Amino acid sequence: MESESVTRITDDLIGRDDKPCSCSARIAELIQLPAGDNKASKNVFSRLLNIFQSTRSKACRLLGLSSLVGVFCLFLLPAAKVQAGAYSSSAHGNSSTGVNRSTIDSKYDAFATGNCAHCHEQHASLEGSEPAPTSPPGPNAAMVFSPEEKLCFTCHNGSAAGGSSRDILSQFNETYRHPVSLYSGRHTLSKLESGQNGAPFRGSLRHVECTDCHNPHVAQPGTQSFDTNNPQNNNLVSNVLKGVWGVEPTFGTAWAVPTNFTEKKPAVKEYQVCLKCHSNYAFNTGNGSYSVSDSPSGLSSVTDQAMEFNPANASYHPVITTANLGNANPLLASRLGPPWNSNPGNQTMYCSDCHGDTDSNKPDGPHGSSNKYLLKWGSWPTQADGTTLWKLSDLSNSGIFCKLCHTLSGSNTGGGNWGHFLWSSSTDSSGGNNVHTQSYHYNFPCVYCHSAVPHGSKHQRLIAYASDPAPYNYNGQAKVTKFTFNTGSYYYGDCQATCGWPH
Ligand code: HEC
Ligand code: HEC
Ligand code: HEC
Ligand code: HEC
Ligand code: HEC
Ligand code: HEC
Ligand code: HEC
Repeated sequence: MESESVTRITDDLIGRDDKPCSCSARIAELIQLPAGDNKASKNVFSRLLNIFQSTRSKACRLLGLSSLVGVFCLFLLPAAKVQAGAYSSSAHGNSSTGVNRSTIDSKYDAFATGNCAHCHEQHASLEGSEPAPTSPPGPNAAMVFSPEEKLCFTCHNGSAAGGSSRDILSQFNETYRHPVSLYSGRHTLSKLESGQNGAPFRGSLRHVECTDCHNPHVAQPGTQSFDTNNPQNNNLVSNVLKGVWGVEPTFGTAWAVPTNFTEKKPAVKEYQVCLKCHSNYAFNTGNGSYSVSDSPSGLSSVTDQAMEFNPANASYHPVITTANLGNANPLLASRLGPPWNSNPGNQTMYCSDCHGDTDSNKPDGPHGSSNKYLLKWGSWPTQADGTTLWKLSDLSNSGIFCKLCHTLSGSNTGGGNWGHFLWSSSTDSSGGNNVHTQSYHYNFPCVYCHSAVPHGSKHQRLIAYASDPAPYNYNGQAKVTKFTFNTGSYYYGDCQATCGWPH
């Protein structure tokens, strides 16, 4: 694996600028030790020291000092040039709106808002004796007061105690959610370290935690927004994903797993964060799929999203690149709803435009949803009952997931309204496409023609062939054997299928 310059959490904390004496961004300053409280200070110091010893500050390594002396260097070097570190600009480190646990436990009154101590346990400094570790018993990695997602849920639970923090807990209580509660003990310091440089999600190491997608020291408030002036940049990481690492695939041929991955530290595109777990980087099988036992939707295997969004594919949703910069074909603006209709062909999108909470009043992010596959809207490829397939005759039903963005307006009313016959070359004036509105197709399920996994396809317009494997070919229902993309209207000769006459 190629690896880009490595940054560690400790580098984020000190606001590194690659000069050894960025040490001068004193940790003591960053952690905002309460003035005059020497006992608390000493304990914050000695506890963090243990962590720093294990993680080693790059800045001090550059000075050629041993890790122990190196850590002292961080604290003892004069603060000739104090820089604002990533932490002090972060949502948690903000001195007025950041972390503050004192509404939960008055012991924390002693610490200023934004102080590390609202997450990292100070033990005896607060109570005079070591408090019993929280459940599960035993010390927590990185000395946080509660393990993993439980730490985050202490504040991100919608209660006043979390300050203005978002209610994420209720999302993880929804039926479909990233299974963060299934895993524990994966983020030990040694694994965090190897995780920064290796493939910590492979095989038995597969897991997911909040901190795989968020860096609690760097995240800032602010989720994605559609930039109409730079539509090609609508896949860049938003503030809440800042400081997280991911992987950028090196693509080979179409519909093949990437030939290599470059670790991006930090990730600059949202998909880079997702692909570190949802591609061959984590699967290591090379065949585009991976058996799982933790799928919230009950899948026995998941597929390779890097392969599916490969810009060399004949069609794809523009997550990695735009339609025009890759091999896909743009849609007509009339077939898209806002904001997607402003610049078709030149836009990208997020995985989290499709995967997220059904309730748009809840926080953004693919945390949980009441819809299968964590879909933001409706259902696919079946109706909400999970068995009845959506058909062209349902085109006006708002429960079709695709209608979140596609107009899919059509005037197919079962034969009468759309008056032409199989060799029609007319387009649908209401903005539909003439394959959808062809009356002979009226009762066809979407998956007769389209891939059930609508990420990308070997064939144009996300068409699935009868020869394609599951899950793309849904339960063997795909009927198309040959499809020729056409920028105008379709003629029956553009498509061969197993439906019988006349294709
Ligand atoms: C919002 C809670 C929170 C705050 C505030 C916070 N941390 Fe952390 N910190 C964490 C969590 C969670 C981890 C474990 C990260 C993981 O699981 O990947 C961690 C890990 C660490 C580590 C070890 C990580 C490594 O691999 O290098 C250090 C060192 C650290 N924190 C120091 C600090 C310091 C210093 C501050 C204040 C300047 C601070 N933290 C503020 C939650 C927090
Ligand atoms: C002690 C309380 C506390 C804990 C523990 C905590 N947070 Fe926060 N979090 C906050 C507060 C307060 C904000 C700032 C909200 C704002 O700026 O409006 C915040 C903001 C954030 C943001 C930025 C987006 C936003 O809503 O502003 C992210 C992302 C985030 N937290 C993730 C986490 C994760 C992941 C964990 C666990 C590793 C965690 N938090 C633990 C209190 C907490
Ligand atoms: C640290 C690893 C990790 C990261 C990063 C990650 N995921 Fe996941 N994701 C998982 C695991 C584990 C599951 C459970 C099923 C499995 O094992 O694949 C899952 C499940 C899902 C599912 C539901 C699949 C089902 O079975 O219904 C979706 C959708 C999903 N992830 C989307 C995303 C998106 C979008 C991102 C990026 C924003 C992302 N994931 C980042 C590990 C990860
Ligand atoms: C245009 C909407 C859309 C976008 C963009 C999208 N997804 Fe999906 N995704 C879906 C739908 C719909 C399904 C359900 C497919 C099915 O029925 O099997 C799905 C299924 C999944 C699954 C579970 C099934 C599987 O085969 O693995 C995962 C994991 C997943 N998506 C991750 C991602 C990731 C990661 C990204 C970005 C790199 C992404 N999705 C982008 C719509 C989308
Ligand atoms: C979150 C918005 C969103 C959702 C939901 C969505 N799409 Fe799309 N779709 C887009 C965008 C954006 C494009 C690219 C438009 C462009 O720039 O040309 C696109 C493109 C397409 C294309 C053309 C791809 C190509 O390369 O030829 C097809 C076919 C398509 N979508 C089908 C679907 C289907 C089927 C569903 C539901 C299962 C769906 N879409 C759900 C936003 C969405
Ligand atoms: C699979 C990756 C993933 C996991 C796991 C994950 N998040 Fe997120 N989170 C995201 C993404 C993606 C966004 C939204 C990005 C955007 O819209 O720009 C987000 C958004 C957020 C926000 C800001 C929401 C808003 O509307 O302002 C908070 C706070 C947050 N996450 C906290 C958490 C906490 C706490 C956990 C664990 C309990 C967690 N996340 C687990 C990917 C993840
Ligand atoms: C008989 C085959 C067939 C069936 C059945 C079918 N489609 Fe399509 N679909 C196509 C073809 C062909 C295109 C490409 C049209 C073009 O090039 O503009 C397409 C394009 C699309 C697009 C891209 C935007 C647009 O409106 O043209 C979406 C979204 C879409 N289909 C969704 C669906 C949904 C949802 C269903 C089921 C309700 C469905 N399709 C059923 C053949 C089919």
